[in-house]
Amino acid sequence: MNNIYEATSSNISKAAEVIKNGGLVAMPTETVYGLGANVYNPTAVANIFAAKGRPSFNPLISHIAELDFLPTYAKTDSRVMALAKKYWPGPLTFVLPRFESDTNAAIDLACAGLRTITVRMPNHPVALELIKKSGVPIVAPSANKSQTISPTTAQHVADSLGDKVDMILDGGACKVGVESTIIDVTGPHVVLLRAGGLSLEELEDFLNEKVLISHGNPDLPSSPGQMLKHYAPSHQMRINAEAPMEGEFFIGFGDVQGANLNLSPSGDTSEAAANLFSYMRYADAQLGYTGIAMSPIPETGLGLAINDRIRRAAYKK
Ligand code: TXA
Ligand code: MG
Repeated sequence: MNNIYEATSSNISKAAEVIKNGGLVAMPTETVYGLGANVYNPTAVANIFAAKGRPSFNPLISHIAELDFLPTYAKTDSRVMALAKKYWPGPLTFVLPRFESDTNAAIDLACAGLRTITVRMPNHPVALELIKKSGVPIVAPSANKSQTISPTTAQHVADSLGDKVDMILDGGACKVGVESTIIDVTGPHVVLLRAGGLSLEELEDFLNEKVLISHGNPDLPSSPGQMLKHYAPSHQMRINAEAPMEGEFFIGFGDVQGANLNLSPSGDTSEAAANLFSYMRYADAQLGYTGIAMSPIPETGLGLAINDRIRRAAYKK
């Protein structure tokens, strides 16, 4: 079954009807593709968890299309609004307190019963048009099976979820390539829960203060990246590799010799992030290799997010 649709205006309208009627739509965002549903429809929200094989204690991000909607949806303050004004639409997700009056059962499910809610505004015209036409916030995790590599093309979504999703809107390859940066802004200090498409340096520069880094409890994740095994390719990954060992597919970074693919020959971490998941999938699908080796990546810029992902991909239980 081919459920990939070019993201034309009429197909986006069709997808908005699917969302309103409780179906699942995969949508492109600037980070990765999301598996979207109407946040106010409990069956649709439950179907997301089922389609991904995702544990229901792992909450979902609400995607919105208008800044003014944010303070009606969750508790905000001037710091949050200033960050949203600066970085939205874009790869920054807030964990915010829910209103006491918010006792919506579908939202409870989306938030895994927590009294906090995560919200972001994606920087992709197709996602924004879909949200506006649907008229509701769209909850969307990455559109892949739980614990596997996130999708950065419509075909990746089809390969991972097949007919579990009603429509896949094809908006091309995702430009950022790693998931959004998630910060907890429920307390006095900004806490980084997941390194992502907005760099820590950029955030700290804007806030003019240090952001605290949460390493979480891997057995009781409050954010996905905190699960030790995540983003798992089926081949064993070896990171910080200067050269491949026998049988390994070598993904390079910067000026290295003998790489099968290079994330960024010039050593640009943003370019590397955009290629990361595609190259990991490609490497994983090649026959005749027994493992994947990857060059060291600097911990600066989007390197922080890349290292977070590949460390988990390389995790051995
Ligand atoms: O870039 C992205 O963020 C993509 C695109 C589709 O927007 N979405 C994404 O969603 O990566 P997902 O579900 O794969 O990862 C978001 C993670 C959840 O796994 C969850 O652990 C964390 O955000 N999260 C959601 N609500 C939370 C909350 N209230 N407190 C702490 N972490 C939360
Ligand atoms: Mg995910």
